[in-house]
Formats: sequence, structure tokens, C-alpha cells
Amino acid sequence: MPRKPTARIFRGTPRNLSYLARCLQDGDIVGVPTETVYGLAADALNPRACQKIFTAKGRPTTDPLIVHIASLSELDAIAVPNAAALRLAKKFWPGPLTLILPKKPVVPAIVSAGLPSVAVRMPAHRLFRRLIQLSGRPLAAPSANPFGYISPTTAEHVRASLGSKINSILDGGPADIGLESTIIDLRNPARPRLLRPGAISRKALAAALGRPVAWRRPKTAAPTQAQVAPGLLTRHYSPRTSLVLHAHITPALIAKSGPNEAFLHIAKPAGRTAKNIFWLDARGNLHGAARRLFAQLRALDTAGYRRLHAEYACGQGPAEAINDRLRRAAAV
Ligand code: TXA
Ligand code: MG
Repeated sequence: MPRKPTARIFRGTPRNLSYLARCLQDGDIVGVPTETVYGLAADALNPRACQKIFTAKGRPTTDPLIVHIASLSELDAIAVPNAAALRLAKKFWPGPLTLILPKKPVVPAIVSAGLPSVAVRMPAHRLFRRLIQLSGRPLAAPSANPFGYISPTTAEHVRASLGSKINSILDGGPADIGLESTIIDLRNPARPRLLRPGAISRKALAAALGRPVAWRRPKTAAPTQAQVAPGLLTRHYSPRTSLVLHAHITPALIAKSGPNEAFLHIAKPAGRTAKNIFWLDARGNLHGAARRLFAQLRALDTAGYRRLHAEYACGQGPAEAINDRLRRAAAV
């Protein structure tokens, strides 16, 4: 029998924030809201606290964590920034951008999976930043989902899948962006590399840096393989129900499918309505679609369908990030 969710959900009152900051200082783990997805936070400088994250998520220790800071002045303590990193930090922080930089020795090996680099982000969510300030330390936080499952975008999602493994979740409302941060590797500032597409596009990064940003789509990787380049696990963010991707969901596809299959469009399809037809944003706005994607996949995954069909987003910007998550969710 699965254990019942027992985690308590806290509203972001000053009193609750002080309490949760003390929990973090004492080495506990806490579910936290961010503007991208909900995270599972621990004191980044306390290896035993960070170990609890891996245990709760069932995450292999080969997969390093992102360290969250509340102000730019905290960057130097954990990483070795270069001019390119400072330029991006000044332009995009606080926000959904993670920088990979050489790490300082104070960052424990469990956080970086033994790599000499560290992933750093300054989140925009007001309550999470306040919690970092109150705890007085950088907070390591991966997405708050069981390893490999769809990332959570509400406090309820966190409770539904990790509620029996953690004590507390801070509720900051539904995540505004809905997809994990963009990750850029700046260890060599002359050759910036995109490791994971997100709300901050490759084009915007290239414009800020004044040079192109390379991106190789993920192809390989078993969960046990060391994450030299991060976010490269092919199967990730996955529903348990099988998911098939299409350039377009057409009437012909729907007609030849069985009754127990569901169809997820980006925009509301003109004139087509049925119980098993869904869409991410009525008008096809891609920011809206990104915000809804994970919640919609979760809802469809637990609705008892035999198979899910989804269509790719067209265009650039958020489409790159949406399609990356769809590809990983559908990878076998
Ligand atoms: O939006 C986000 O980034 C969310 C919120 C909670 O901030 N966090 C998140 O963390 O998505 P996570 O653990 O689910 O994904 C972090 C990715 C992992 O795939 C990991 O491999 C990569 O970042 N990563 C972390 N440190 C790295 C490093 N030193 N070098 C390369 N990749 C790294
Ligand atoms: Mg994750």
C-alpha cells in the first residue's frame, strides 16, 4: 500500500516563512515554489540535508542539483564567475536562467555529483527568494517530482507525488512559467553551450553574449550515466501512460484511433470537440501553453487513457522548450 501524503502545505505568511527557514537551517527538506516549477530545497552547504533530496526523489546521485541564491553578491561564495556569466546574470536574474560555472570548494560533492562545476540560479519567485534570505544560505533544489516523472507546477502536485516523503511544502500559487529554467554552460565563456532550453531563449542569450550559443539535442543517456552535460537524460518528465507525438493532430488520426485515447493540441482546434480532445491554450499562445503543459500531462496521465497523443509547438522561443519536454516525455 502506498503511504498517505502527510506533508503540510504552508501559506507564505511571515511566520510560516520563518518556521520553514528554521527547518532548512536544521537540515530538513522543504517543497518550494519557483516561477518555473516547484522545487525540493535543502541547505546546499549541508551534504546530509542534500542527501535527503536524492532519497525523497529516488534520484541517482550522478544527477547534480541547482543551487539557488537570493542576490548576486552570493554568487562568488559558491562559483567562479566570468564576464559572460555576470553579463547574463545582470540581464536575466532574478529569473529562469541557470548558469554552469566552475565551483568553489565549499560546495559539497553531492551537490555537483562530483563534478568541478556547479549550477546556479537566482529565482524570481518572491516567496522562494525570501526563504533563501531568511535561511541565510544557498538552497539546492531540483524539481520536486519523483525522479523521471512530470515536474510539479502546484503545491498540490508536490503533495500528490512526494507528500509521504517530506514534511512541508510552501504554497506560492501555480508556477508562472511552467517549464524548468534554461541551462547554459559557461565554463568556457568563449564557447557557451545550451544544456536545456527554457523560457529564456537561445536567441536572447546569444544576443546578450554577442556570440552564438550551441545546442545539441539530447540523444543518449541511461539514468546511471554521469551527467557531464546536464539535463541530458532522454527519458524525463514522463507520464506513465504511453505518449505519441505528431507534427499535427488531424481528424484522420483521431478517426482511426481507439475510444480510450486522448489528444492534446497546442491551440483549441476549430470546430472539433469531444471528451477526449484537449488543448493547452485556447489561442495557441506559447507562454500559456508552456504554463499548462505539465499540469495537463499529469491530469491526462491519471485519467485512465490507454494512450495519449500530443502535437509539437511551431515556431521558436518557447516552442523549443515545449518540444524538448514533449520529446523527453515521449522517449521510451
Ligand atoms: O527551473 C529549474 O531549474 C528548477 C527549479 C526548482 O529551480 N530546477 C530544476 O532542477 O529543474 P533539476 O534538478 O530538475 O534539473 C537540473 C539539471 C539536471 O538535469 C542536472 O543534470 C543539471 O541541471 N546540472 C546541475 N548541475 C550541473 C553541473 N554542474 N553540470 C551540468 N549539469 C548540471
Ligand atoms: Mg527535474
